[in-house]
Amino acid sequence: MAVLRGKEYPQLSVLEMTSQLQTLMTIIRDKNTKRNDFIFYSDRINRLLVEAGLNCLPTREKVVETRTGETYVGTEFVGKICAVPIIRAGLSMQNVIREVAKKIRIAHILIQRDEETAKPIFFKDWLPDDIENRFVFILDPMLATGGSANETIRSLKLKGVAEEKIIFINLVAAPEGIEAVLAAYPNIRIITAEVDEGLDTNAYIVPGLGDFGDIYFGTD
Ligand code: PRP
Ligand code: URA
Repeated sequence: MAVLRGKEYPQLSVLEMTSQLQTLMTIIRDKNTKRNDFIFYSDRINRLLVEAGLNCLPTREKVVETRTGETYVGTEFVGKICAVPIIRAGLSMQNVIREVAKKIRIAHILIQRDEETAKPIFFKDWLPDDIENRFVFILDPMLATGGSANETIRSLKLKGVAEEKIIFINLVAAPEGIEAVLAAYPNIRIITAEVDEGLDTNAYIVPGLGDFGDIYFGTD
């Protein structure tokens, strides 16, 4: 649960701002950071986010016998996962989730913001047939107006995915984007590393970090 502009959002989780996370966020926001450092440190933050996402998955009791012959009462995960990176910037999070979830399916959705209007344009998706039986991790480092995320969730719901099974993993969010997504889809979960002040006149996040995809993939 997190509070945003005086309102409580039970479906929103913001990572605890530890000294480590603050340092990593400072590096990726710094305009003087070199690309290889931007990639390394945003991957580090994405790892923290994905781990937080895994903590949202349900578990059930599992009893095992240890090598001492004793009993250990533990847990196991219930259910399968599908990650859905929003192409292009979301692709930066794909390898990170593969490192922690061995049997994961990776679907993709191609959505680009129109540079003039900031409205999302949907091109194509590639989703597994059984996606409605899976927990779905939407991956996108930037949440600005919320248009791209909402378009993605709309596609997932058309395929039968329940909102309760959708977790949106995000690195930097504008309050406007969070409000827009949770107003449209109140039962999804959002996990973000930091919530910024707002949007500028071009619908870029302020203070933000710029165009994540361009920096990460070297097209700036
Ligand atoms: C960026 C970002 C999000 C979207 C966020 O993608 O990765 O997908 O904008 O903005 P919104 O919340 O206002 O929709 P963009 O379409 O610019 O493409 P890119 O991933 O190729 O950088
Ligand atoms: N996309 C980005 O990469 N950055 C923003 O601030 C907004 C959209």
